[in-house]
Amino acid sequence: KKTIRDIDVRGKRVLVRADLNVPLDDDGDIADDTRIRASLPTIRYLCERDARVILCSHLDRPQGVVVERLRLALVANRLSVLLNRPVAALRDCVGPEVESAVAAMSGGDIVLLENLRFHPEEKTGDPAFVEGLAGLADVYVNDAFGASHRAHASVVGVPGRLPAVAGLLLEKELDAFTRILQNPERPFAAVIGGAKVSDKLEVLENIIPRVDLLIVGGGMAATFFAGRGYGTGRSRLEADRLDAVGRLEAKAAERGVRLLLPPDVVVAERLEAGSPAVVVPAAEIPEDRVIADIGPGAADEFSRELSRCRTVVWNGPMGVFEIPEFAEGTRRVAAALANLDGTTVIGGGSTTDAVVRFGLADLMTHVSTGGGAALTVLAGKVLPGVEALDDAGEP
Ligand code: 3PG
Repeated sequence: KKTIRDIDVRGKRVLVRADLNVPLDDDGDIADDTRIRASLPTIRYLCERDARVILCSHLDRPQGVVVERLRLALVANRLSVLLNRPVAALRDCVGPEVESAVAAMSGGDIVLLENLRFHPEEKTGDPAFVEGLAGLADVYVNDAFGASHRAHASVVGVPGRLPAVAGLLLEKELDAFTRILQNPERPFAAVIGGAKVSDKLEVLENIIPRVDLLIVGGGMAATFFAGRGYGTGRSRLEADRLDAVGRLEAKAAERGVRLLLPPDVVVAERLEAGSPAVVVPAAEIPEDRVIADIGPGAADEFSRELSRCRTVVWNGPMGVFEIPEFAEGTRRVAAALANLDGTTVIGGGSTTDAVVRFGLADLMTHVSTGGGAALTVLAGKVLPGVEALDDAGEP
């Protein structure tokens, strides 16, 4: 795909679809500005070339209506601080007022359109809304890796109407995943966790033939335990996925991929802070307990195995890391990756949150800004937002 480096942006009006969907705290402030920071290289690149930069993004899921606390003005303020230049927050994303604000821009100016999801047309891909956005610019840039799995107006509609290229963040994300999926240095391990196996089935299907080692942790390990005939107490068991898990185990065995489950787990009465918790062997989970984390034996074994790998991709926490007493397994895996002399790719969503929270993000090769988008790529599928961009063609 073409990127902003392949085209002339000088003096042009450039519409940049970014993923500035940051988490907000209870006071409505930005809880983590990782995604805003990740969008800076593209914005700086364009400003340095005197482009007129028109940024757009969604924030949360306002369902097609204006929600005051989800206005993008607070994101514009943070951008302005980080860039050390003004970023004007507009009160809408299409219409006459937006058009006149854009007409008044000079080279190097930056505006941020209002939350795209205040309009139901963003999700439905309404042609008039697409025209309204496309009419603001000469060139379209997709830098919203995290939103590129959504076939929305600003992601797949507008690139059909303008010259459309990838931004620097999108390029970096795609490069990181392509490198490990197509040409990993070996041994190559995947660590897959999270609450539900059903969220990760396609990822597991795609990743098993590529890896040497697969480590499964988190709540979804329960369904694998059940498949091996262990009791799982009150843990969430996806009974309708037992067949699928059996097939995955068989596929791994057939391909000579080692599949490791935690040999021990932390079980609790409830998944709440302060709930009594003990470590038990995975085959001896008491009936009235729920799996909250992998055990210390599992953390030791996983760390040892991972330290021998040259490439590791990780998606899904090992336990309920948001609760400090159940965070240890996730923290130990994060530390093992941080210490690895090799390539480490953190596959987005809550795994990225965990690594950022532990202060280890800078020690990873790549920390993805995408949640669902990273899962889509790890499942081996093409992102609609990427498919919609112009091809680079033959060199
Ligand atoms: C994300 O948070 O993964 C992206 O910003 C996409 O958000 P969405 O799941 O609401 O489309």
